[in-house]
Amino acid sequence: MTAPTKADAPRCPFPIDLMDPDTFEDGLPLDRFATMRSEAPVFWHDDPGSYGDGFWVVTRHADVMEVSRTAEVFSSHERGSLLLPRKGATPEEEEMQLAMTRMLMLNMDPPEHSDYRNIVQRAFTPRTIRNLEGRLQEFADDIIDRALAKGTGDFVTDVAAELPLLAICELVGVPPEDRIAIFDLSNKMIGADDPEFSTSPEDQQLASTEMYMHADKLAEARRECPMDDVATKLLQAEVDGTSLSQEQFDIFFMLLMVAGNETTRNAISHGMQAFFDHPDQWELFKSSRPEVLDTAVEEIIRWATPVMQFQRTALSDYELGGQQIRKGDRVAIYYAAANRDETALDSPDTFDITRKDNEHIAFGGGGPHFCLGANLARAEVRIIFDTIAEKMPDIRRTSDARYLRSQFINGIKEIPVSYTG
Ligand code: HEM
Repeated sequence: MTAPTKADAPRCPFPIDLMDPDTFEDGLPLDRFATMRSEAPVFWHDDPGSYGDGFWVVTRHADVMEVSRTAEVFSSHERGSLLLPRKGATPEEEEMQLAMTRMLMLNMDPPEHSDYRNIVQRAFTPRTIRNLEGRLQEFADDIIDRALAKGTGDFVTDVAAELPLLAICELVGVPPEDRIAIFDLSNKMIGADDPEFSTSPEDQQLASTEMYMHADKLAEARRECPMDDVATKLLQAEVDGTSLSQEQFDIFFMLLMVAGNETTRNAISHGMQAFFDHPDQWELFKSSRPEVLDTAVEEIIRWATPVMQFQRTALSDYELGGQQIRKGDRVAIYYAAANRDETALDSPDTFDITRKDNEHIAFGGGGPHFCLGANLARAEVRIIFDTIAEKMPDIRRTSDARYLRSQFINGIKEIPVSYTG
């Protein structure tokens, strides 16, 4: 499938390269997103050398939802869900990479997608997550006690990173001694554009190879001794009467590890950052628990929007937001812009932990790929902030936060803090 050229398509009203990680180096370009939403809500972004030489950028809440929910037109399988930077690969190399990425459930279309999602779906239902909450609270107490004992430190590594990591490892069945290694590896895989984590494509390749080795070790252990965990479910599952291959198991493992870690870590980091920037909301949070917990969690996740965008590829012509999308066009849906859309949310630039009708789409705009881990992420964010408020109410920022260099993840690398006020 080749995409037609886009000489006449509307462009962004100002110069911007959304593929350049530097565009996001100081955080989300919110003012520019606002201008896009009002002046060119669906525009063509040139990206010479990439498939189709560019992609549509979709910034309004309603349009992002429409794309997400029209999976029969907007495919995750055709070119994958990741808006990948041009790396100078030949078309043949690109096709090979695509074949690999299509083994990830994230990059499948129904009905194949449903077969794989059903294997793990039950491990993430509200009920299963409720049963896990006692364990999450134990983890959170321990994390906060250790940070408190240090007095000062980096909130991201001491606090935000820990609970998502422990939780997903617990669910999947990763032994405690492997958890730090998994943390480093997923950092390297997601932070490939940030020289602090990864310096070369070889580094990234090495990180995925090491991740697969952890997966292989776990699979071997569970084949010998099945347990009540996601690894065992994957090994016992069948799709069309066939068990998953070792490679399919490894890839599933990697998806869960990376998706379950980076996103929630950044939600927690941005949440703390938002409380530092809005001390009145921190005071309100501390004094109004537990009533305010659920609305605060949704507002933190909306404010953070850790996944900035995903892409789809049109399988047929489609009109979206007044623009003619052609078969073969790629479409990037910007959750980070949509979550500040004033036509969908009241005063979206206000951080309000009591916000009602918070229809944010940080977990996706609905449709088959809606975040598998949403219930888990919500529980983690609620439990960690409840525990912070309880045990370290005087936490304060001692220096500016540093952001991840990425065009995909809205990440914070470091927030220097004093835990004791
Ligand atoms: C605040 C935290 C999180 C955010 C903001 C987030 C965001 C997202 C988004 C935007 C998608 C794509 C939705 C779509 O294409 O319609 C997604 C999918 C996914 N998420 Fe999350 N996520 C979070 C936490 C988690 C956790 C804790 C897990 C744990 C396993 C997880 C696992 C997944 C998986 C496996 C998918 C792919 C689902 C599919 O293709 O069917 N996520 N997430």
